[in-house]
Amino acid sequence: MKQKIKLADLKEGMYVILPSSWLSHDFLKSSFKINSVKLLNQVRAQKLEHVIVDYEKSDAAALLLTETPAIDELAYISHNDTVTDPKYESPPEEWSSSDVVPEELIEAIEDKHLTAEKKAKAVYLHSISMMKDLLESPTTTNIQASKKAISSITDLILSDDKTADSLLRITSHDFYTYTHSVNVGVTSLMLSKALFKGSDAHDLHELGAGFFLHDLGKINVNPDILNKPGRLTEAEMRHIRIHPYQGYKMMEKANALTEECRLIIMQHHEYIDGTGYPRKLKGEDIHIYGKICGIADVFDALTAERSYKKAMTTFDALTLMKEKMFNHFDKDLFSSFVCLF
Ligand SMILES: [Fe+2]
Repeated sequence: MKQKIKLADLKEGMYVILPSSWLSHDFLKSSFKINSVKLLNQVRAQKLEHVIVDYEKSDAAALLLTETPAIDELAYISHNDTVTDPKYESPPEEWSSSDVVPEELIEAIEDKHLTAEKKAKAVYLHSISMMKDLLESPTTTNIQASKKAISSITDLILSDDKTADSLLRITSHDFYTYTHSVNVGVTSLMLSKALFKGSDAHDLHELGAGFFLHDLGKINVNPDILNKPGRLTEAEMRHIRIHPYQGYKMMEKANALTEECRLIIMQHHEYIDGTGYPRKLKGEDIHIYGKICGIADVFDALTAERSYKKAMTTFDALTLMKEKMFNHFDKDLFSSFVCLF
């Protein structure tokens, strides 16, 4: 049974269904269980008049704590309320392109009354959700469908300066591979737009695909090693260093590998002083696409929060990159990157 209740009556353990689309709340999904006090407070902080609780999916203990009767039954929910978004409930094994670029998102992007900030939020949350699902189920069809979705996101970044600018500013500092993929995708595309826009020599849609999917191979890396705080052993580093090649093979198998994607995926950890991996390439042996992604990759790693370190501010991260890592990066590209912020 589902019932509408006041925010004040929410309890930890309840399975909540937010009454609006994700344009009007801060969560990636419209329905989820409240599994911590922190999350309970985050839901209560939303500007919502009510939420819906699914009693069958809630913990029994949470329902025993409920003293206030629900406002009314689900049948009275307004037609304007989006009860849930089925695509988030259980992602399909194989996606179609309409699964990855839903009508709702296209409408939001085309809505002239929506502010650039709201559009950016819609695109960002959708991109995160798409990358999360893709990394959980990276089948050939899903990789190809995601490339189509990234192509739409690229169109938006290229055509709408205000929304693109807002996108750059709302990137999350959580360090998950899917958040990192979107952040690096957005910042690399913004730098490419600044450098190449108007030039027929560069296919920004293929670049976008490469940037968003640069870390696809990380799904083959042991998460304990990926999330290990502190210094990695040489054996652990060897294990991590295979992810560019793994990503390249996955894209090749999915028939989604273009030259742009290959260069980005294989070279995003190469540094111009030859200290990168997997091939220790130097200087001009690294393609400009690999160099762009490499700068965005390091920047996002520094500005992300980890269990063992706080997120650096944009200013501190750029200062550290300039003072301590300058030999890693192409000077002109780094200067252009700084100008984005
Ligand atoms: Fe990587």
